[in-house]
Amino acid sequence: MFKNAFATLVWNKQIEQIKNYQKDLIDYCYKIKNDSSSEYNSNTDGYQSKLLKLDQPLISKFINDIKDYIVNYANVYEIVSLFEIEIDDMWININQKNDYLLPHIHSQKDFSGVFFLKASKNSGTLILENPDVGYQYQKFFTKNKNNFIYNCYNCQQFFVEPLDLKLVLFPAHIKHFVTKNLTNDDRISIAFDVNIITKNENWKKQYV
Ligand SMILES: [Fe+2]
Repeated sequence: MFKNAFATLVWNKQIEQIKNYQKDLIDYCYKIKNDSSSEYNSNTDGYQSKLLKLDQPLISKFINDIKDYIVNYANVYEIVSLFEIEIDDMWININQKNDYLLPHIHSQKDFSGVFFLKASKNSGTLILENPDVGYQYQKFFTKNKNNFIYNCYNCQQFFVEPLDLKLVLFPAHIKHFVTKNLTNDDRISIAFDVNIITKNENWKKQYV
């Protein structure tokens, strides 16, 4: 009987209901860009906003629309106690032609997510790296790269093609980066981190 000893869970889906206010979100992103300077973290020349206020009405509506998907994602981890998910940080990336994001992880978070608010096939691929670095010591798979069909057991990288309204969730410790935007259009994404909050932790937070 085959068993997966370890696995990395990536989830992605186009969230059609956000199409109703996609333009409003895009306008909001450009307003943020116009009003405040860029941070410099994983970005090169692209714009990366400071952290968004999560109670801003449009952002709050967005979080409401993606929350159930995040809970479903977290459920795969079979957390025993009652839990809630908490959006920890959220920020905007606007990448023009030739902008890209450097490899990085999101430390001290549980899950990470990205929502492609405005993206297309060649506007920059999100690439996740296999956290099992042991593959570099294998013999056949490192020397015969054209002699096997890539699957989750033998690949070193996982490609997520950008697409308008696509939401992607993955473990926060997975190293990831974004390739160059090869189009003339801006690529806009909303990135965020998620923490798991158990009921006990919530209770502890309430007393001082
Ligand atoms: Fe990231």
